[in-house]
Amino acid sequence: MCGIIGYIGKQPATPIIMDGLKRMEYRGYDSAGLAIIQSDSIACHKKEGKLGNLQAELAKYDLVGSVGIGHTRWATHGKPSDVNAHPHNDCREEIYLIHNGIIENYHDIKTALSAKGHTFYSATDTEVLVHLIEEHHKTLPFEEAFITALNEVVGTYGVVAISSKEPNKMMAARLGSPMILGIIGDGEYIVASDVAAIMKHTREVVYLNDGEVCVLTEGGYEIKDLKAQAVQHTIQQVDWDFTQAQKQGYPHFMLKEIHEQPDVLMNALRGRVKQEEGLAHMRGFLEQAERLQDTKRVIIVAMGTALYAGQVGEYMIEEYAGIPVEVESAAEFRYRKPVIDEHTTVIAISQSGETADLIAAVKESKLKGALVLGLVNVVGSTIAREVHAGAYCHAGPEIGVASTKAFMAQLTMLALVTLHLGRQRGMSVVMGQRIAKELLAMPEKIKQIFAQEKAIAKLAKEYSQYHDFFFLGRKYNYAIAYEGALKLKEVSYLHAEGYGAGDLKHGPIALIDEQFPSVVIVPQDSVYEKVLSNLQEIKARSGRVLAIATEGDTHVADIADDVIYIPKTLEMLTPLLAVVPLQLFAYYVADTLGRDIDQPRNLAKSVTVE
Ligand code: AGP
Repeated sequence: MCGIIGYIGKQPATPIIMDGLKRMEYRGYDSAGLAIIQSDSIACHKKEGKLGNLQAELAKYDLVGSVGIGHTRWATHGKPSDVNAHPHNDCREEIYLIHNGIIENYHDIKTALSAKGHTFYSATDTEVLVHLIEEHHKTLPFEEAFITALNEVVGTYGVVAISSKEPNKMMAARLGSPMILGIIGDGEYIVASDVAAIMKHTREVVYLNDGEVCVLTEGGYEIKDLKAQAVQHTIQQVDWDFTQAQKQGYPHFMLKEIHEQPDVLMNALRGRVKQEEGLAHMRGFLEQAERLQDTKRVIIVAMGTALYAGQVGEYMIEEYAGIPVEVESAAEFRYRKPVIDEHTTVIAISQSGETADLIAAVKESKLKGALVLGLVNVVGSTIAREVHAGAYCHAGPEIGVASTKAFMAQLTMLALVTLHLGRQRGMSVVMGQRIAKELLAMPEKIKQIFAQEKAIAKLAKEYSQYHDFFFLGRKYNYAIAYEGALKLKEVSYLHAEGYGAGDLKHGPIALIDEQFPSVVIVPQDSVYEKVLSNLQEIKARSGRVLAIATEGDTHVADIADDVIYIPKTLEMLTPLLAVVPLQLFAYYVADTLGRDIDQPRNLAKSVTVE
């Protein structure tokens, strides 16, 4: 969650670092700071709150220097404050360090260092690390002291450190938290936790792997392991055009990304559908075709919105491939005793590819012999590199904290996985062609929903008066009810609960009254009549109903108070359409309430700690 950046080269470091921190603001943070090597010392400034506070502080100084580090912090240990903000320094203020992750054994290290006379000023786990480097630096050069200290750490880190004693060197490392090296030119480098901070300066990047250290000097860079042995690495080209990550005229990234969904869906399908043969064509899955053929059971693990995508995938795969599927929260999966064997395929779904709980679940699944596949959006992310194989979602950078287009891409990928598994089994070429054809028609159908955007915004304005909502659905839209509720909660801070429409009678209906509206997803599918009767039960108790219904269904309009229509499609693909009005509804309710839509309170874009 923290934003990390370091620059070493020939240009003034301060503006480069501040620009990089700004490009990572979307990750969510509560304080920021930087440290710049001066002629014979290090100048460090850090402030609680947004970057503007730090900028105002820096305006009082004339910071020179072409080597520096910067950080935006999302607090895990120690409350948000100036003193707890990064960078952190050693007793002699010669070493400065920034960190993303958790030092799990910081208490033991702090006790041992205190006994050696080190004094601590902050409540953070990170500060311990810089004092540990200082302790080793008494007998070792900076680079060796840095590596030795990391070998004593238990936990996770994306870390960058500089020393006034060796002003032409910068050390970076990663274990469980992203770290990317950008190669600007000879002797000019940038390291960051997010490629968004790098791509303005270079497209040539190296994604560090866990346990790797990067040594940067004006003479060049080296990548080593924690035994200080050089390791092989590949230079990758970043193919995202940074304007993709800008708002392109929309008021918020979230709205831009909702509108990107037709293109995102096409990008996820591009080169992956063989319509004539009714086949999916995902390289990573094709490489594992034999083990997938042998798969007797699928477990889908994810968190949050990705988990709800997985729940839709469960229905798809079970209905069209006839394989039993279970969907698990990675936070639960990693601590229980899942029954896994070589006939189990685990599918990990993640936008960021850095969700800590899911990384752990992936490692656990590999340990137990499962085939572990990934449906991940961020290229080169940890999960993307941990799994045996997989397919990127190609949704492009998703900046809004509330996931929308990545969710659409995940649903699309799961439909492709269904096609792959189904056609390996009983699914006919005709059925395969029907699914392939309808998938390719989805972008246009999503665009038809945008034609109702003004009406949806008007409804959202009306519904923003309420404080409690049910979101209800069945079968393929059971999970969409939960996703719709999550979207509303995340961006509007209003209370919303997702429920199976069939569960209402078993208690929740007691809450229904004029002040407790329900959003009911009721497309003309195999459970239409069932959901319709649930809708009537709500009306019988004076509950207000906003229905998501199939275009042309006038019957629902006679019962519900308000209706938003979605085009007809295959039942298994209705979630890709039903979710769009719910995303827009959540967005416009939040906009009416004046919320910080792209960076909602308390949330971060990627939950890289437990
Ligand atoms: C969704 O809108 C939330 N931002 C959150 O639930 C998110 O889906 C979850 O943290 C999983 O993130 P990931 O897809 O990056 O793993």
